[in-house]
Amino acid sequence: MQIGHPETTGPDLSGAVLGIESSCDETAVAVLAGDGRILAETVLSQIGEHAPFGGVVPEVAARAHLAHLAPLTEAALAKAGLGGGEIAAIAATSGPGLIGGLIVGANFGKGLALAWDKPFLPINHLEAHALTARLPGLAEGGLAFPYLLLLVSGGHCQFVAVEALGRYRVLGRTLDDAVGEAFDKAAKLLGLPWPGGPALECLATEGDPARFALPRPLLGRPGCDFSFSGLKTALAQSIAGFPSGALPRAAAADLAASFQRAVADVLADRTDHALAAFAARHPGATTLVLAGGVAANQAIRAALALVAARHGFHLIAPPLRLCTDNAVMVAWAGIERLKCGAVSGLDHAPRPRWPLDAPDMALAPAPVAA
Ligand code: KG4
Ligand code: ZN
Repeated sequence: MQIGHPETTGPDLSGAVLGIESSCDETAVAVLAGDGRILAETVLSQIGEHAPFGGVVPEVAARAHLAHLAPLTEAALAKAGLGGGEIAAIAATSGPGLIGGLIVGANFGKGLALAWDKPFLPINHLEAHALTARLPGLAEGGLAFPYLLLLVSGGHCQFVAVEALGRYRVLGRTLDDAVGEAFDKAAKLLGLPWPGGPALECLATEGDPARFALPRPLLGRPGCDFSFSGLKTALAQSIAGFPSGALPRAAAADLAASFQRAVADVLADRTDHALAAFAARHPGATTLVLAGGVAANQAIRAALALVAARHGFHLIAPPLRLCTDNAVMVAWAGIERLKCGAVSGLDHAPRPRWPLDAPDMALAPAPVAA
């Protein structure tokens, strides 16, 4: 993909970064030129390997990353037309996520860094999601700091004020399930295949969102935290009201539509609060960025675009393949870090938990004003 670059100028190959993503169930490798131009991107989803178990099995995921990383890297380098020696740095997701996959990906990246004698950049997966919208060409004229991020995926659900590289403030997060996880559990209750979000959205298109009065947890409460477990329980109780094994398709569609509407209402309400809090601190800011797999959901996008407009904000959602887990975002975070003086992190140990607002030791200290 060549987004937003005049074709007359060649990509900045001197700063090319190889990105590796292996924190969950996607094995992905990408090569970006120093100016952010995507030279190669490969993603191998493990959905087929995990579907029989109804969710991601960490051990299966780690083994699959191990099997696929080397061939994907070779393919990405060949597509980019670069040899290892021409890569300026290697960036690999080093947390948060499933520790087996993180160890595989980070150590693979460190091996390449040692072999090619290049810096290794350990990347926080959440930071990579947070910075994706700054990829040149995605937002008209480029996206400057600060902006508000709503990250909604299978493992994460949080509002982040993205103030600068390495400076993030979490304004609210889920108190229980992540929103994608809630979709997956709801879909399972409705007898839909995993991953449930896309299947549930599809079924909801046939349904009446007003038929079942499902709860809207935390709606109207101060703050911008989320909660979804009560909604899932209410859905389970509604399903239990039908004779066992006899949920008619029309009822399932109405339940799916009602569930999706409840989630969209909650997200819109929480976003309303988050935008108010964010705008009070950053009066000039006008951008809300949506990221994570749930960003694919059209009903949710529409609801959030409305709230954003009410606050004078516009909603940016990167193309879906860049919203879900991918290595382009990891390489891009590496490029941003490299530009700001991040140094090699060969001694960085992968972290299953790595909050975005944890102190950032990798960036060079800001220059002292004269
Ligand atoms: O970001 P992602 O690919 O992986 C991580 O969880 O990190 O997000 C996957 C999640 C799954 O829970 C999936 O059910 C949900 O995103 N999802 C959706 C839709 N597409 C994917 N949820 C609601 N509606 C969708 N269309
Ligand atoms: Zn993710």
